[in-house]
Amino acid sequence: MTDSITLTRPDDWHLHLRDGALMQQVTPASARRFGRAIVMPNLTPPVTTTAEALAYRERILGACPPESAFTPLMTLYLTDNTTPEMIREAAAQGIIACKLYPAGATTNSDSGVMDIRKLQATLETMAEEGILLLVHGEVTQAEIDIFDREKAFIDNVLEPLLSRLPELRVVMEHITTADAAAFVRSRERNLGATITPQHLLFNRNHLLVGGIRPHFYCLPILKRRDHQEALREVAISGDSRFFLGTDSAPHDRYRKESACGCAGCYSAFAAIELYAQFFEEAGALERLEDFASHFGPDFYGLPRNNDRITLRRAPWTIPEVLHEDAEPIVPLNAGATLNWQLADG
Ligand code: DOR
Ligand code: ZN
Repeated sequence: MTDSITLTRPDDWHLHLRDGALMQQVTPASARRFGRAIVMPNLTPPVTTTAEALAYRERILGACPPESAFTPLMTLYLTDNTTPEMIREAAAQGIIACKLYPAGATTNSDSGVMDIRKLQATLETMAEEGILLLVHGEVTQAEIDIFDREKAFIDNVLEPLLSRLPELRVVMEHITTADAAAFVRSRERNLGATITPQHLLFNRNHLLVGGIRPHFYCLPILKRRDHQEALREVAISGDSRFFLGTDSAPHDRYRKESACGCAGCYSAFAAIELYAQFFEEAGALERLEDFASHFGPDFYGLPRNNDRITLRRAPWTIPEVLHEDAEPIVPLNAGATLNWQLADG
């Protein structure tokens, strides 16, 4: 049995760091594990301009431990008013991606895009400038069932969008269905996908059986077990279009344990350890490094990190709550045992 795993330092290709006190609390956990992270722009108000993204980047760097070399990769939040000029400015200032939240899809998405077809010129400029499009792949129509929203997005929005813009590089974020896995596999180029730890480790039974468990509630929502199995299969398949993106999305404990609880699982406290747990359970630990450290930068056209991290087998219990003296956060799978710990240095 392997007792230690050393891998190229991984990156997190989908992360919510929030702002203010909560950002100060959660950023060190990501900075300790990852070299880089794609930082989501869904603050209130959202990060829609280059100036706002650069200011946010400085605040994040200020929340990193002094010895950290963590690099936040900044994104802009697309709205109906994002212009080609804004994209050119973003590219010139090192912004590498824009995030598409269909209006109303999830937390702080009210200013999201009403009709993506109206953004054609903006998206063409993104393709020209090499800026990636990151999509929250769910439709928002009230009549579409929450468990069907990802598939409907693929059929009604994503497929037509990729046909209109074959040169645009697109990441389908936090995929949750066999349909999404198959769709990504069916495309020859320019489409990748991130997969979260919760969608690999859990399914909707964990959320709903024996009582409603708000700390497993995220969007897109956990699906049935067959979909979980399909995600597990592609994650360990060695297919370079699938890579790590935690979607770690902290919310104060009491905003989740509520009559109308927020969506989001907090996994940054042990992100790579959670993925290692899954890859070991799947008998595929030797595939962890490709998924966590190689395929993401390769897809983004960025160099792989050149330092390494080590995980040691040392089982520990995930605390019931973190940051109790500040904004308390319940971590993903609180109370369970994780086999792996990050070794320092
Ligand atoms: O569960 C989620 N939480 N999904 C998202 O898309 C947004 C995120 C958040 O910001 O809390
Ligand atoms: Zn997210």
